[in-house]
Amino acid sequence: MCQTMLKLLVSGEGMSRTGVMISIPQYPLYSAALADLGAVQISYYLDEDNCWSLDISELRHALQEAKKHCSPRALCIINPGNPTGQVQSRQCIEDVIRFAAAEKLFLMADEVYQDNVYADGCKFHSFKKVLFEMGLEYSEKVELASFHSTSKCYMGECGFRGGYMEVVNLDPEVKVQLTKLVSVRLCPPVPGQALLDVVVNPPQPDEPSYDTFIKERTDTLATLAEKASMTQEILNQVPGIKCNPVQGAMYTFPRIHLPPKAILEAKEKAQVPDMFYCMKLLEETGICLVPGSGFGQRDGTYHFRFFSLYTNKNDEIKCSRFSLRPL
Ligand SMILES: Cc1ncc(COP(=O)(O)O)c(C=O)c1O
Repeated sequence: MCQTMLKLLVSGEGMSRTGVMISIPQYPLYSAALADLGAVQISYYLDEDNCWSLDISELRHALQEAKKHCSPRALCIINPGNPTGQVQSRQCIEDVIRFAAAEKLFLMADEVYQDNVYADGCKFHSFKKVLFEMGLEYSEKVELASFHSTSKCYMGECGFRGGYMEVVNLDPEVKVQLTKLVSVRLCPPVPGQALLDVVVNPPQPDEPSYDTFIKERTDTLATLAEKASMTQEILNQVPGIKCNPVQGAMYTFPRIHLPPKAILEAKEKAQVPDMFYCMKLLEETGICLVPGSGFGQRDGTYHFRFFSLYTNKNDEIKCSRFSLRPL
């Protein structure tokens, strides 16, 4: 769905080529889709020191730089974030909407982790809801596409390939073209469509499956929340690793402080240092992690992505093996 929307937005050559703003660290589908379409990737960095929050001044800076060589048209936001696990505040969402309105940017809100919110004081706010609460000045103007999927959280049904996109304020003629583009892909198999219907119309209190549904959903969410908090707690016990709170989604992107000797050895092997760390960890412990370099990170910083879903009570022992011993 995101690719279809991007396909519709990307055009031009040289200076007029469409630029799309994406967060760094990012979910690699975005950079791959932009490369595939020949669009210009405009990277904006999330603020690791502030729990991977989104800073409007960083957006402004990235946009001004990009205007020198392309035509910025869209801004993608992933909330809650993959791979960084942050949940955006309502204030931040409002600021993003004001920024998009001022800069005439099309907003793409990837909200596939909307049910995965765990941290105290954090709440999921959909871009559409906030947009409509900001008054006509914004709700009638800002173009927005929001995305959701059956593959996350308590649904967890990846194989069915179900999801939806909702667009607001799209020019009716453009919407006709979007419908054509979506139709070209044909529809997913019937079970996926039926499943999506259940996601958007969950069992109601007077229906037979209601109690089971609520119990299963509550249990799954409680387990995910427990794993999210254990992940942060356990990883922060490891010398050399700093992990921000897992506020939402299913991931964390802990920073690793590698000793200079390890960085040197990685360079000798022509490996990115965090790849070197992940390979060593795999060889020595069998633990397989994805290096941060695949998601993008500030120069000179190293990370890995960790799937909080897999944390369990015995991992304290396993995590002691993540230790960054001097080589
Ligand atoms: C941020 C984000 N957006 C979109 C997707 C794609 O979801 P789906 O599996 O429904 O295609 C994923 C999958 O991991 C994701 O992490």
